Amino acid sequence: MALWGGRFSQAADQRFKLFNDSLRFDYRLAEQDIIGSVAWSKALVTVNVLTAEEQKKLEKALDELLVEVQAEPEAILASDAEDIHSWVEQKLIGKVGDLGKKLHTGRSRNDQVATDLKLWCKVQVGLLLNAVKELQQALVITAEQNQDAVMPGYTHLQRAQPVTFAHWCLAYTEMLARDESRLQDALKRMDTSPLGSGALAGTAYPIDRDQLAGWLGFSVATRNSLDSVSDRDHVLELLSDASISMVHLSRFAEDLIFFNSGESGFVELSDRVTSGSSLMPQKKNPDALELIRGKCGRVQGALSGMLMTLKGLPLAYNKDMQEDKEGIFDALDTWLDCLHMAVLVLDGIQVKRPRCQEAAQQGYANATELADYLVAKGIPFREAHHIVGSAVLEAIKQGKALEALSLSQLKQFNAVIDEDVYSALSLQSCLEKRCAKGGVNPRQVASAINAAKVRLDI
Ligand code: ARG
Repeated sequence: MALWGGRFSQAADQRFKLFNDSLRFDYRLAEQDIIGSVAWSKALVTVNVLTAEEQKKLEKALDELLVEVQAEPEAILASDAEDIHSWVEQKLIGKVGDLGKKLHTGRSRNDQVATDLKLWCKVQVGLLLNAVKELQQALVITAEQNQDAVMPGYTHLQRAQPVTFAHWCLAYTEMLARDESRLQDALKRMDTSPLGSGALAGTAYPIDRDQLAGWLGFSVATRNSLDSVSDRDHVLELLSDASISMVHLSRFAEDLIFFNSGESGFVELSDRVTSGSSLMPQKKNPDALELIRGKCGRVQGALSGMLMTLKGLPLAYNKDMQEDKEGIFDALDTWLDCLHMAVLVLDGIQVKRPRCQEAAQQGYANATELADYLVAKGIPFREAHHIVGSAVLEAIKQGKALEALSLSQLKQFNAVIDEDVYSALSLQSCLEKRCAKGGVNPRQVASAINAAKVRLDI
């Protein structure tokens, strides 16, 4: 039976019912709806709507229901209840009879759904924080193992200056550290309980909403009932956090797809995260990474969709808001899956050091070094830049690396160039020189790894 049949003389059209019902997706809020109902039953005792004995009965039945739901959440889907709130109430009435009909006193599905979804979001944030940390740990461990793997760093996808694979790993660790702090920040702002806001104007029972908030693990109750039932900022914030982090993951995926390509050959991905071609026997495709890159799109879509749904909605609750769930469920599931998959990819990755080194030596990635060398000999940088440009042009003509030009050839570009130029042009010197904080100098990288290990409890 629907929760609201009294005013109606005609049954809902079956097609409307299918269109309107949300149980097929909001069944995922079952645990939160039950926990919220237990807390609400306790609040009803404080305002003499329920006796302590009645509350105990309700709580016992709700606890039983919680166990059933945890054991087999999908069983909920067999019901034709309109939504998870109706389902829980029906089940409760099934267990305790008419007493169950008292539970909804002073409560609305509007404050109920707002509370359920916030509680669910808090649980998901916990899972996501763990996964974001695990990926940072995997990156730092991979960095530690690859401190001496020199490879080209790129700008404009042109070889720019040498870096190490470790330094590359730490760049993504930083992005994920920001993702982590964004989640923690969102968690703080969503720590307010809407329960007791009623349909929109507040509950008509003098309930201590802060105490009720505490029972649900929120630090305080929300301050305005109209806002409480209309607010989905936490959904928008988590979708934004997911979108930003998925951008990071898609760039991580793209870098590795490129590093794994035949053209680069810097890494080899494990068989465990790649797949073959049905036609071309030689293929080993980076599907895990391509899916991470691809799934970024649907997460951005969920954020845009939710922003559009909420834009211009009048206060307070409108059914449009039921559209909040599928997007956030899918986006957070997707984000979590991608974080786990990225850990798996790193777990079996092989860095091809000789090939990385060979590539770092090509492409004039040490040209800046020659300019700095000239600067050290008293030539102003802008002039040095020009001189090195001409040297690179000549080297390209001869099909040689800069360090393969003879000293007399180099001297033609400027007489200050001497024998010591060759050590300055070495990969090792390129790395060593970048010794300011955050640079690729091996000692800087080692200390960044150590700091990250402390922060991440490795
Ligand atoms: N299924 C609804 C939702 O997800 C629950 C709230 C319904 N409230 C109402 N007044 N119809 O938003």
